[in-house]
Amino acid sequence: MAFTKKSGFLLCFWGMHFFFLLLGCTSRSLREFKSSDVTSNNPAVKLHIEKKQVIAENDIIRVTFSNPEGTVLGITYNGINNVLEGRNKFNNRGYFDIVWNAPGRPSKLWGGSSGLYIYAVFEHPEHFPALEIDHIRIVFKLQNDRFHYMAVADDRQRLMPTPEDRSLGQRLDYDEAVLITSPSNPELQGEVDDKYQYSCENKDNKVHGWINLDSKTNESVGFWMITPSNEFRSGGPIRQGLTSHVGPTTLNILHTTHYSGKEVTMKLQEGEPFKKVYGPVFAYLNSISGIHDSERVLWSDAVLQLSKEVNRWPYDFPKSEDFVPTNKRGRLEGQLLIQDRHIKGGKFVYGDNAFIGLALPGDVGSWQRQSKGYQFWTEADKLGHFTIENIVPGEYNLYAWVPGIFGDYKYSTIVIITPGCNIQLGSLIYNPPRNGPTVWEIGIPDRSAAEFYVPNPYHNLINRLYTGKPLHKFRQYGLWARYTELYPNEDLIYNVGVSDYSKDWFYAQVPRKIGNNKYHPTTWEIKFHLPFVTRGRYTMRLALASATRSNLVVGFNNPVARPPHFSTGSIGQDNAVARHGIHGLYWSYSIEVPSNLLVEGSNTIYLRQAKGISPFQGIMYDYIRFERPEV
Ligand SMILES: *[C@@H]1O[C@H](CO)[C@@H](O)[C@H](O)[C@H]1NC(C)=O
Repeated sequence: MAFTKKSGFLLCFWGMHFFFLLLGCTSRSLREFKSSDVTSNNPAVKLHIEKKQVIAENDIIRVTFSNPEGTVLGITYNGINNVLEGRNKFNNRGYFDIVWNAPGRPSKLWGGSSGLYIYAVFEHPEHFPALEIDHIRIVFKLQNDRFHYMAVADDRQRLMPTPEDRSLGQRLDYDEAVLITSPSNPELQGEVDDKYQYSCENKDNKVHGWINLDSKTNESVGFWMITPSNEFRSGGPIRQGLTSHVGPTTLNILHTTHYSGKEVTMKLQEGEPFKKVYGPVFAYLNSISGIHDSERVLWSDAVLQLSKEVNRWPYDFPKSEDFVPTNKRGRLEGQLLIQDRHIKGGKFVYGDNAFIGLALPGDVGSWQRQSKGYQFWTEADKLGHFTIENIVPGEYNLYAWVPGIFGDYKYSTIVIITPGCNIQLGSLIYNPPRNGPTVWEIGIPDRSAAEFYVPNPYHNLINRLYTGKPLHKFRQYGLWARYTELYPNEDLIYNVGVSDYSKDWFYAQVPRKIGNNKYHPTTWEIKFHLPFVTRGRYTMRLALASATRSNLVVGFNNPVARPPHFSTGSIGQDNAVARHGIHGLYWSYSIEVPSNLLVEGSNTIYLRQAKGISPFQGIMYDYIRFERPEV
């Protein structure tokens, strides 16, 4: 562990610098705090510096940090002496966590009103060694005896098992998934608990947390993680990450390889200069007297608080010069149109609800693997109009994709954002990949396998939260095993024009279980009829929504061609099958099919996922389209 000092205010852990900031304070490490710095900036916040700890408090809340490490030892709120788990070691209650090659280590900070604003400036100075970082997150571990009700979204909240319930339960196919067999609350008997069932896409990961319903005092308290902007999160709007889970733990995932794999690891070369501000995010506490219906009240209040924080973004209180204030940020607007000669006869079509984003310059679609820069995303309106505000100055590429349209868009010119700029891009035209008319298609090109067949969960392996919620069915445990039941001997065959992908196309191409614990690769078939073959090149557009240690080999009317007609090669580590995701990273391919591989009459495309030694290996399809040559 290297300690260096720079302008007197920096601590350094393994090559990363952290600024510690308290609301209303100038940026400096905790050991540099003086009460006078704080009170002069923000009279509401009082700071007590002691040898081993620093206490920040206002009329509502008191936060105790260790000095000089800066971990959060305690939060006193609404008569609760410490909402954090006091039985945990001092460095395991509230902290900033970076997981790199070796296990993570803490460091953190904040200050607030009825909560704590947290941010860190990570710096990798020029003389520092190479680093590989898999996760960056903020962690809060709440009092186990108090916080039992968890809320992640309007339709994703429930009474949760306790850590003891988990330790008494039965481990399922991996450590994270546990069958609750002797719960303290009998209502939870026979349910599965797995933290990945509460994952969320960045764009929706804005507020989540826990509620303490205290019947003794007749008081309820909520603890919420509020994220007013996604600009500092890596991987773009649909990168998935954890939220809250049994612990009771509340996380803020700022960077992660979950649902993506090592290919999105943040790699800093030796001497590579890097600096980025993560946050501020807001750990918010609220309370209400009574315990009846207070879950709903506290959740609604947290959602309201989120909108207040969003409206205040970018915050004006960070004193760090690395956090760019509103008046030094830029703005951009434009309109995305789509032109495809086989959609509406080649007329312009609006980029209805397109996702439009700025991210570091790179290849088309590269934003989903980016871990270093800021990203600024928005969704276009029905007419494809978009506005992106509060952009940190710098050089970006503008990327986009449109739900319902195959492929990825990138604006060819680098976008340079300067302080106060207001860039009018006008109409941008996306010409999606297209070689000829559609012969047939399967699925919806939207980067998810949700439209395909997601089976019912096993009744003895259920999370009741998702019962009766079809859109969340994919979050149930063990669905992958249904494949072998549905297709015990023969693999899936899809007959174009007859089959219905919402019923006949399994959501994931996983291996088939053979005997006790052996798995076998599977080959799916698409059968279709061609009344005639046009000489030339046909094209198969193939989009995958996920891949885990897979190799998809495609054959046209020949399952065993040597060499294969097409192969993706070894791809993917996103682990979306085991993590109850409905997508991981997006992969798209355009495969040329010479007409001599096709026949008049009945044709078969063989889709062999050639690697299959584990139940969690496999791919999810997003969309397949077959195009004939233009005539
Ligand atoms: C608990 O608080 C609520 C709301 O203030 C109140 O209506 C109720 O009577 C209280 N219950 C008890 C048992 O004190």
